[in-house]
Amino acid sequence: MSQAHPFDYSNKRVVITGAFSGVGAALLDVLAELGGPEVIVLDLKRPEGPNSAFIETNMGRVASVAAAIDAIDGPIDVLFNNAGIAATHPVEDVMAVNWLGLRQLSEGLLPQIKQDGAIANTASIAGGQWPGHLQEVLECISIESPEELFGWCGDHKDLVGDGYAFSKECVQVYTMKSAKDTLVKKVRTNSVCPAPIDTPLLPDFNKTMTEKTINWTIDQAGGTIATPRDIAMTLAFLGADAARYVNGVNLNVDNGFSAFMTTGQVDFSGLA
Ligand SMILES: NC(=O)c1ccc[n+]([C@@H]2O[C@H](COP(=O)([O-])OP(=O)(O)OC[C@H]3O[C@@H](n4cnc5c(N)ncnc54)[C@H](O)[C@@H]3O)[C@@H](O)[C@H]2O)c1
Repeated sequence: MSQAHPFDYSNKRVVITGAFSGVGAALLDVLAELGGPEVIVLDLKRPEGPNSAFIETNMGRVASVAAAIDAIDGPIDVLFNNAGIAATHPVEDVMAVNWLGLRQLSEGLLPQIKQDGAIANTASIAGGQWPGHLQEVLECISIESPEELFGWCGDHKDLVGDGYAFSKECVQVYTMKSAKDTLVKKVRTNSVCPAPIDTPLLPDFNKTMTEKTINWTIDQAGGTIATPRDIAMTLAFLGADAARYVNGVNLNVDNGFSAFMTTGQVDFSGLA
């Protein structure tokens, strides 16, 4: 008996947030190459890449995400939570889009995600500092209402900062924590954690994190910046049957940058 190709997406039904540009737009192309699943896109802007349906959605607004969940009927194989914004936006918007909307959509659509399905989140290496304050992140991600969360953020300004790195810490810790709940339904949950990527968001990071820091990170990661397709291919892997025993993983896609940091092999002189 022939088995389906482990990376095959044909006959699958996929939901992607943030596919107008950058990583999400590249993911539309990669999925088309991997069999052309039915793809439902949630974004502020209508995507141009291959898709089956577009639901205009603001991932930072509870009512908008709820309306999108209502509009999606029937079974889903893979949910890609990819939409995100930089800290050029107010901290509450960053937390709402990057964290709260992602959780709301994941939990709202979980009942429709089929056995052997998957959730793949786009986090960031910027969210890799959670081991230094795991209890606070766990406390934060247990908060249900946006108002309470924003109050908590106001009380933890030193930790939350401009919201970007902290929102991605929430995504990384939630990826590990929720992987246990989704596994009950035989649904895997993982995240991809990219280094800087050459997308329309990069100039925003150059502003909020400084161009010097971004260029230094790229330099220490071997001198070439990740392409949207590099990250899209990893997301496609995490959502595919090929990753059927991969669960609760935050996968750094950074050309080794995090490994070099951990093993003391980065040169900080360029940051001085
Ligand atoms: N570019 C980088 O250097 C980098 C590095 C690490 C992680 N990331 C993450 O990668 C993901 C994709 O970002 P990108 O770099 O492709 O940027 P991008 O700006 O090209 O793509 C973001 C997508 O999200 C959509 N979007 C923005 N706000 C939205 C909202 N409120 N509701 C619905 N959709 C919204 C945009 O229209 C766009 O399609 C984000 O989660 C980002 O945080 C980016």
